[in-house]
Amino acid sequence: MPTDTKLDNNDSGATGKLARLCIVLLLVLTLLSAAAGFLWLPSVKADFSARGVWDSICRAAGAPRSWGGDGGGVQSPQVATNVILLPAMMRQADSAVVGRGATLALNCTMCHGALGNSRSNAPNLAGQYPEVIAKQLNDYKSGKRSHSLMNSLAGALTDEHIAELAAYYASLPKARTAPTSYDESLPALVRVGDPMRNIAPCIACHGGVDQKLGAPWLEGMPKQYLADQLHAFKTGARANDAQQQMRNMARNMSTAEIEQVAVFYARKSNSATQ
Ligand code: HEC
Ligand code: HEC
Repeated sequence: MPTDTKLDNNDSGATGKLARLCIVLLLVLTLLSAAAGFLWLPSVKADFSARGVWDSICRAAGAPRSWGGDGGGVQSPQVATNVILLPAMMRQADSAVVGRGATLALNCTMCHGALGNSRSNAPNLAGQYPEVIAKQLNDYKSGKRSHSLMNSLAGALTDEHIAELAAYYASLPKARTAPTSYDESLPALVRVGDPMRNIAPCIACHGGVDQKLGAPWLEGMPKQYLADQLHAFKTGARANDAQQQMRNMARNMSTAEIEQVAVFYARKSNSATQ
């Protein structure tokens, strides 16, 4: 039928036009998005630094800029210390090792005292836990803890020397102070800490309630030394504490609180209140 044919012709003509329009629109859209993705975005986003089409596509899809270590990727986090503490490091050494340590320690008496108790502001070493002395000497040696003098002195020590010095100092009697034990009269930070500020009680690690491997004996240390170390942890100048155990706490302590705990631990007698 002629009328029907005419209608059909009209229909197919309109559909064909629409299809062409759609194809053109699709092409225009494709070109626009390509221009936006490859030209406009890289030009307005400073860190886009397109290194070619492939790189742009990968980054748009979420792939990291570098899979391996070509230097452009994220740097590995800074490690606080290279020392791994083991309970075996606490063992009592035999007397020959202690004797060799005593000879080596002649180089240290000038600052740390003839029997390991300093009369200046250097830390006491007498009666210090052997694993603490070994860890600190290793950290000075590797530069993880910095102090110009101790870095150069420790740099010259072998692993054997370090073990001998640690055994010798651990064998000496401590300064005239008794261990801290739980007592209502202890300063609040020492006894219960401040949970709201993430400060754990000192006696949970430094003796009194628990003694954590690697936490130094603090009682009787020079007050100035204790305060200096806490300030160094607070500012991050000292950063050799594994898992930021001390930095996390010192960061939240005020100067007055640092002074208070330093005075407490530097006490020369048994009394907690002195
Ligand atoms: C010229 C002075 C001087 C001499 C000599 C010296 N030290 Fe030290 N030592 C210091 C000072 C000061 C510090 C604290 C440094 C700091 O703030 O990090 C220290 C820190 C230490 C510590 C860390 C203690 C702690 O509680 O964290 C150890 C261990 C140590 N010295 C061992 C030795 C040994 C072993 C020798 C001998 C081979 C020696 N020192 C020689 C001055 C000295
Ligand atoms: C979670 C356990 C933990 C708690 C709680 C803790 N400490 Fe420590 N502290 C350590 C460890 C571990 C080290 C040794 C860090 C290192 O390896 O250098 C240390 C080191 C220190 C030193 C440096 C001593 C030296 O001779 O090098 C001082 C001072 C100190 N702590 C004071 C305190 C005070 C004060 C408190 C309470 C406010 C406290 N700490 C609470 C674990 C703890």
